[in-house]
Amino acid sequence: MKKTLLLILLSFIAFNTNASTNTITNTSSNASIWDKIKAEDLVLFYPGQSSWEWLLTKHKGAKSVRKGTSCMECHEGEEKEMGETLVTGKKLEANPIKNKPGSISLKFKSYYDQENLHVLLQWHENVFNSHEKMDKDYKTKITLMIGDEKVREFPVGGCWGVCHDDATNMRSFKGDKDRNLYTSKSRIKIKRTGGGDNFVDKDDLAGMLEKGNYLEYWQTAIKSPTEHKTHHGYILEKRNKQKHPSIQSKLSYNHGMWTVEISRALTPNEQGKINIKEDHLYTVGIALHDDFSKGRFHYISLPRSFSLNDSNADFTATKK
Ligand code: HEC
Repeated sequence: MKKTLLLILLSFIAFNTNASTNTITNTSSNASIWDKIKAEDLVLFYPGQSSWEWLLTKHKGAKSVRKGTSCMECHEGEEKEMGETLVTGKKLEANPIKNKPGSISLKFKSYYDQENLHVLLQWHENVFNSHEKMDKDYKTKITLMIGDEKVREFPVGGCWGVCHDDATNMRSFKGDKDRNLYTSKSRIKIKRTGGGDNFVDKDDLAGMLEKGNYLEYWQTAIKSPTEHKTHHGYILEKRNKQKHPSIQSKLSYNHGMWTVEISRALTPNEQGKINIKEDHLYTVGIALHDDFSKGRFHYISLPRSFSLNDSNADFTATKK
């Protein structure tokens, strides 16, 4: 590997926040509120094995990504087409799933009140039959990732920023030990094949957790229209699940359309939970695992900027 490449990968790393107690307020959803909020449309597409390392090196837009240009600058509106290319195995996919459509459309709405942020996600499920049940427990999982520039890759690459080439079933995965999402800064160095298990030392990881150099994920895992679980956690050296979630989710299903409503305490003041505040820009990325899929075999969105009150963000929450 070239020295310059190593330097580029190494220099592509992160920075700070603060954390410390706990509140969660129970808010019931309110259809009349949602009805008045404008929906944002997203297309989630099948990413194949397009890892962060691939994006920084072999990908045609690599030079721009290394300089910090967001995927949206070049690919907004191309999601459907990209998904079709990748899902069929024409590019970056060693094990295509039979019959799987390349993309899926999703609607996003959000509002906040004094204590909570509320997000609504809605999509029509794709109807196809892959006959592959990778996840034995859940039919569908919808996941929202949120973070800011404290994980430097995130505003640039969204979910791709924590998807490395040596994660389970990615191109450099050796089949030895499962590896899920992680931040580049949690590793001593990142090579073309990813960061392996060369973690920075424990004190450094603890410092990153303290300063907020992580991403948070909110997941609704669906067994059936009447049964779901809510998972909450953060991504640093791996995906870490919170024992005490600060989110709640509500699920409904109507003629093939799923609606998930998530409520999250704005400022939980706890480790591994971002305090979401006004006058600050966040990034969100959304992933959908449908048809019992697992790991990388999902659909994902390009990153969107998100703010409670800055109308220049891609998505701005409504104040109630
Ligand atoms: C400066 C523009 C630019 C930026 C920024 C950029 N890309 Fe690309 N990307 C390209 C070009 C050009 C191609 C090649 C398209 C082709 O060959 O049809 C490409 C190809 C791809 C492909 C392969 C699919 C295909 O149809 O070839 C994926 C996946 C991809 N980009 C994802 C991303 C992601 C994720 C980001 C953000 C981290 C990103 N790109 C940022 C320009 C860019």
